[in-house]
Amino acid sequence: MTSAPGGYFDAASTEPLHPAARTALLEALDGGWADPARLYGSARRARMLLDAARAEVADVLGVRPDEVFFTSSGTQAVHLAVLGGLRARRRAGRHLVVTQVEHSSVLHAAELHERDGGEVTRVGVDGHGRVDPAEFAAALRPDTALACLQSANHEVGTVQPVAEVAEACRAARIPLFVDAAQSVGRTDVPGGWSTLAASAHKWGGPAGVGVLVIRKNTRWRSPLPDDEREGRRVPGFENVPAAAAAAAALRAFRAEMAADGPRLSALVDRIRRTLPETVPDVQVVGDPVRRLPHIVTFSCLYVEGEALLTELDRLGFAVSSGSSCTADTLRPSHVLEAMRVITHGNVRVSLPRGVQSTEVDRFLAVLPDAVSRLRRGAGMTTA
Ligand SMILES: Cc1ncc(COP(=O)(O)O)c(C=O)c1O
Repeated sequence: MTSAPGGYFDAASTEPLHPAARTALLEALDGGWADPARLYGSARRARMLLDAARAEVADVLGVRPDEVFFTSSGTQAVHLAVLGGLRARRRAGRHLVVTQVEHSSVLHAAELHERDGGEVTRVGVDGHGRVDPAEFAAALRPDTALACLQSANHEVGTVQPVAEVAEACRAARIPLFVDAAQSVGRTDVPGGWSTLAASAHKWGGPAGVGVLVIRKNTRWRSPLPDDEREGRRVPGFENVPAAAAAAAALRAFRAEMAADGPRLSALVDRIRRTLPETVPDVQVVGDPVRRLPHIVTFSCLYVEGEALLTELDRLGFAVSSGSSCTADTLRPSHVLEAMRVITHGNVRVSLPRGVQSTEVDRFLAVLPDAVSRLRRGAGMTTA
């Protein structure tokens, strides 16, 4: 398969495996199975593959190879960055700054810190889901050990002011962690941060590979038991084939996004423009301009998100929702709540690489009827 199956609009959850990843994975399964820490031929070959993968990821991210560590997921990279950053700066204080719209992996690490006696400030967002850099800066205190900001939001696509917040953190001499899981591979992330997390399956690499970047001169101390793998940063035997595949996919995906990113962005613009004209009582959410190229989210009043997802699945579209009663949760998404936007009938469309514009046309053609069918079924007569 060279691109996603038709109607797959859930790239923000996971991008289908990139062909470059498949090729690299198969080669490395044969050539990179040995223990990269040992001193014989097959071990050296595994080490070479791992070092090459590290160098490739470092190059794309614009950092040094010895600042890059492979983890077992984006979530693990986030947990290590947050908890390791806090642990290393215990003497500075136990105050953590996050935003209300971070990924659950950041928020869960923050909750653990609170349960452990730490203090957390959660900075709010505007109606587009964007953080105000001045408000973020005002939350920094002399006892702040770490600040966290996503590069862009995973549910609504809004890009956050990383450069401005990094500058405020630099002035206050507080390390900044950036969760860049939704951006890496698709857009450049501004510099100035101390630690960064990314996730390979978001750019067409295999699932179960994350990237943790710890810049030189950043204080970091593992929150986990000691282990000598991955420069003592990440415990456990490295998955060399998966790291090789992740690096190959990142290189290829990033190169393709130079042309495909603007194309996807134009398709998102078309969706953003068309929906309010064709679907009554719809609210398109997220920043219309400062946004990721591939994500658009909207909410339809008087429709249940789960019912809409099921109907769209029947029509051949895979999308996700931040409405209540979906994705194993009874509460609407914390992101939509923080933005104070409608949480009914919420749909996130996230376009994979190579998506055909005809698929988007078909989606726009069937959606108005799908919504009005569900509204009629729920007893509404006007829509
Ligand atoms: C912003 C953000 N951070 C972290 C993660 C976690 O990555 P992974 O799925 O590799 O654990 C995700 C995945 O959805 C994400 O969107």
